[in-house]
Amino acid sequence: MKYFDDDCISNDSANPILDKFVQNSRRHFLLGGISAAALAGMGVSMPTLAAQAAASAGRVMRGKAGPAIGFLPVSVSQDDLVRVPDDYQVEVVYAWGDPISDGPAFKPDASNTAAEQALQAGMHHDGMHFFPFVKDGKPVSDRGLLVVNHEYVDDGLLHPGGMNGWSADKVAKSQAAHGVSVVEVRKQGNRWEVVRPSKYARRVTAATPIWLSGPVAGSDWVKTAADPKGHLAFGTFNNCAMGVTPWGTYLTCEENFNNYFEGSAKPASAASSALEKRYGINKGGSIYRWNEFDARFDLNRHPNEANRFGWVVEIDPWNPMKPPVKRTALGRIKHEGATVTLAKDGRVVVYMGDDERFEYLYKFVSKDRYDPARPGANADLLDRGTLYVARFGDDGKGRWLPLVHGRPGLTSDNGFADQADVLVKTRLAADAVGATKMDRPEWIAVHPVTGEVYCSLTNNTKRGAADAAATDKANPRVDNVFGHIIRWRDEGGAAGDAFGWDIFALAGDPANPDPAKRGNVKGDAFGSPDGLWFDPEGRLWIQTDVSTSVLNQGDYANLGNNQMLCADVETGQIKRFLTGPKGCEITGITRTPDGTTLFINIQHPGENPQERSDPANPTAISAWPGNQFSSVAGGRPRSATIAISRKDGKVVGI
Ligand code: FEO
Ligand code: CA
Ligand code: CA
Repeated sequence: MKYFDDDCISNDSANPILDKFVQNSRRHFLLGGISAAALAGMGVSMPTLAAQAAASAGRVMRGKAGPAIGFLPVSVSQDDLVRVPDDYQVEVVYAWGDPISDGPAFKPDASNTAAEQALQAGMHHDGMHFFPFVKDGKPVSDRGLLVVNHEYVDDGLLHPGGMNGWSADKVAKSQAAHGVSVVEVRKQGNRWEVVRPSKYARRVTAATPIWLSGPVAGSDWVKTAADPKGHLAFGTFNNCAMGVTPWGTYLTCEENFNNYFEGSAKPASAASSALEKRYGINKGGSIYRWNEFDARFDLNRHPNEANRFGWVVEIDPWNPMKPPVKRTALGRIKHEGATVTLAKDGRVVVYMGDDERFEYLYKFVSKDRYDPARPGANADLLDRGTLYVARFGDDGKGRWLPLVHGRPGLTSDNGFADQADVLVKTRLAADAVGATKMDRPEWIAVHPVTGEVYCSLTNNTKRGAADAAATDKANPRVDNVFGHIIRWRDEGGAAGDAFGWDIFALAGDPANPDPAKRGNVKGDAFGSPDGLWFDPEGRLWIQTDVSTSVLNQGDYANLGNNQMLCADVETGQIKRFLTGPKGCEITGITRTPDGTTLFINIQHPGENPQERSDPANPTAISAWPGNQFSSVAGGRPRSATIAISRKDGKVVGI
């Protein structure tokens, strides 16, 4: 999502480089090997034993083709349609407003109530995962749970009259359209459908009770009038990308939470003031206007409420009665995603990006080890461990800097009283240890064989500006309108504290008059990479999120609507697989274990540059999906999960 945030910079840190962090930066590194073959059956993409062989050999293959990518690329498109190669087919599975189970039908005039919305798909689908059912000990590919984030809403489309006559009911509907869906899906013949009724169907919304766990639970920072002990938050929102754990849970990530709060006119302390500022919480900054009818979103009245957001939230999709849990040990940032892998010794490693200009890349390493033989022992692995932030050296090496209370820069003298302080103020802690300011870290993907980690840095038009950070080798372009994809190899495995890195691709348009904006992509042009995911064979799928304020104009005049591409990371070849309808972003990706169905999300079709639709003319930009699929109710554009398959039933991408 770029939503309302394109001009946002919260980081004015000077990021001092502490001597100890540059020591040893020239050590040799080996590839990380990870033993996670057993996880593949759960649909969890984890590096396999082959990675251990690569690690012991200390090599990364380059120049030899990776898995087959056989489709004929599609052209750029400005059509109001999803387009895929001719030998593929597309269907809509789960669109905004569809009931999650037996429940209220979508009303094309947006007149569903808040209570009805809470039983329907939320808006603006984002990160997602398919959890297959298991039959005879094996995961199946025709039935599973689809877990889908609903990142944000367009209040111009969500209500009759949009935000005119703003009311408590409209706030409640807006809150109900946020969060996460769990729906049961199955393949009937050649088509996917939501199972109704289903005992698994669930909505988590901006009002759902959610436990706080880890070092911040119970701290003064998160105590509120409604929760004086600081253990139970209410709701999750701006859920962007995601992660999947080896023990079969889903991680949903709270991104631009600041936009939901009215900032304090008079913060309670200098520390509170610095905290609000560093996270972009401003007086008059509540874009969603929930604070006008729900006092907990007004920090003048409930000053700690915002500290209960910006976390990674764990959901057990198989148990709708189990409250989700905010895992505070993973830090408080504008979380894009939380990509999970395993270290060689079984510790859990989570890679995370903070998506804002000049923010940082993080990883968490659990203290304890994942034990597949004792499922119950894994439930709280994400509550204990070490959070690190990345420093990229200009020499192609990097360090993971621990954010641990008591270390230099993270003591009481520096304003960090304990580890809860470090975690609530993660961004400030990362500033203090000298992290590298990145060009908006978005999704992160781990190669299933080599263990290499790829991260999309979507864009940063302020890079190199007079009042902002200069370029460095990891963020090498001023006015980085097209973004790039960086990759690294953790030394000694995923838990290592050093890494080697390079840039996989600089996005751009080869026809741009400015050579710096042409990029170096081998194959089809794109810009603003965001969604990033390796399928189990090692194809890298890249999804774009070009802001509607620049889509199909200026530097982006030749690149069409947002798109999805597929990369061979061994050769660097990239092919365009899909183009989306007007005003949309492509995000979210998962597939069935057999690879024959790929699910992705079309987010915010019809979004206009103001990012809030005119309620009097909801189809001004797009009428998708109703215009492409006669079986889908229209009336207004609707974010939706689509299923993509080959007409001959073979693996998608092959
Ligand atoms: Fe929600 Fe950074 O995209
Ligand atoms: Ca995103
Ligand atoms: Ca984005």
